[in-house]
Amino acid sequence: MIKHDVVVIGGGLAGMRAAVEAAERGVDVAIVSKMHPVRSHSGAAQGGINAALGNREEDSPASHTFDTVKGSDYLGDQDAIAAMCEDAPKQIIWLEHRGCIFSRLPDGRIAQRPFGGAGAPRTCYSADVTGLVILHTLWEQLERFGVKVYEEYFCTALAIEDGIGSGVVAYNMRNGELELISAKATIFATGGAGRMYAKTTNGYASTADGMSIAYKAGIPLMDMEFMQFHPTTLKENGVLMTEGARGEGAYLLNSEGERFMFKYAPNKGELASRDVVSRAEWTEILEGRGVDGCVLLDMRHLGREKILERLPQIRELALDATGKDAIDEPIPILPGAHYTMGGIETDKFGATRVPGVYAAGECACVSVHGSNRLGGNSLLDTIVFGARAAAHAVDYVKSVGEVRPSTRTLKSEQERVAALLARSSGTRAPVLRRKMNETMSANTFIFRDEKGLSVGVADLEAVRKEFDESVIVMDKSKTFNTDLVSTFETDFLIDAALCLAKGALERKESRGAQSRTDYPDRDDVNWLKHTLAYRQENGLPRLDYSRSVKITDFKPEVRSY
Ligand code: FUM
Repeated sequence: MIKHDVVVIGGGLAGMRAAVEAAERGVDVAIVSKMHPVRSHSGAAQGGINAALGNREEDSPASHTFDTVKGSDYLGDQDAIAAMCEDAPKQIIWLEHRGCIFSRLPDGRIAQRPFGGAGAPRTCYSADVTGLVILHTLWEQLERFGVKVYEEYFCTALAIEDGIGSGVVAYNMRNGELELISAKATIFATGGAGRMYAKTTNGYASTADGMSIAYKAGIPLMDMEFMQFHPTTLKENGVLMTEGARGEGAYLLNSEGERFMFKYAPNKGELASRDVVSRAEWTEILEGRGVDGCVLLDMRHLGREKILERLPQIRELALDATGKDAIDEPIPILPGAHYTMGGIETDKFGATRVPGVYAAGECACVSVHGSNRLGGNSLLDTIVFGARAAAHAVDYVKSVGEVRPSTRTLKSEQERVAALLARSSGTRAPVLRRKMNETMSANTFIFRDEKGLSVGVADLEAVRKEFDESVIVMDKSKTFNTDLVSTFETDFLIDAALCLAKGALERKESRGAQSRTDYPDRDDVNWLKHTLAYRQENGLPRLDYSRSVKITDFKPEVRSY
């Protein structure tokens, strides 16, 4: 049996930041990750990380807090948002002191670019490869502290003994064995669930792992109906074209060559918040002003030098996928599934309802994004709440005795996986995943209504049933059984998709990224509350609305940009 004080599940930014914090605080910490940490999806984050440094214009954590609360369409918990925005400048300095290479202003201070929904240029960046640069910085810190990484270990279950978290069970992908990893504190940092959708900016690894594992263990998922659709993703493959492009001044154009965003957001134009921009693009397309089913991202006027200095990656990604050079031609783009704003319910220290179990980053719902996240706040979330969750977990670890190793959970996982592998006929996971992707894209996209959502829920319930009764793994081998791993991942995605669709169907209002054509207004009287999804015996979610939104300084107002 493997044993550590703290075990972090996931090696992306939140996971590595948590592990480094725990190591700095002197406890025995390890990372369990299905891939090498530096290959994590965090590396695809492009445009930057928010902090009110005020390097270009006057700014403050209070303004950052207000913008984030407004961006969340007032669903974010204001105490958690204030904590994140106050920690932000300290965390940027922390990264800077550990060698993170941020782009610079001519006077040498950290450069900041405008991002959507922000009152000041607040987004610190490393050209358009910010996630990758921070990932490498944190990897160096892991090496510095000698943090043990269990790489190519796929976590399958959370162990809970006597009502407290006691570690996890993980599948060692190299030899096909399930192993018990005992820990006084477990921190989930497994990223999002974008792979629920057919087209997404998310890497293949974004499969709701921690969310579903926590949910199966009885921890609720919160506000899952709020999926962010990023306004600028490549038509060809869904790859992200950073908001940093619009931050640097790029235009969005329709088929008439019009900068249409000013019709929808007279003050902010292309730099309105993401829900507003994605809806506007989709409206243009639906009303016949699209260009081959897309709209255009036009960077030509930025000039070669600026594009090559600040946006070199997206220029290359677009060139590879479309053959179009953004220096000379506009790029066809569409809104695409980008960020899971819901997740494992936590408090502002990353603690879940189960002592010894934490979550941070995209898999968590601390409630700092509410119903619409501001660009640049996701990297911030990973860094701030990775550190906060670890700090809290370390205090917890120091206050408790040994945990009882959950041989019970190991045994039940061994039996479950053996039964799965023993099945000789049924439906393969990719078939079920395709059904899920199709119904999610058709019925839970930008504009939603009762009819489509009811179809979506029914389809997903059928997929859940078929998976549980008849999913089959064809590959029975032990070494790098990717068929089995992908089956685990499909199971996880189905859980997340069901919570999303059910939550969207029940929430009879439009707020942030949830846009109901049959309930077009925000309804603070009935719906200024969080959605909690609990898993029932039959595998389907039960929704609960007992958690209210924490409002401190900012009373909900009409939201316009
Ligand atoms: O557009 C982007 O660069 C994405 C940033 C984010 O999701 O925060």
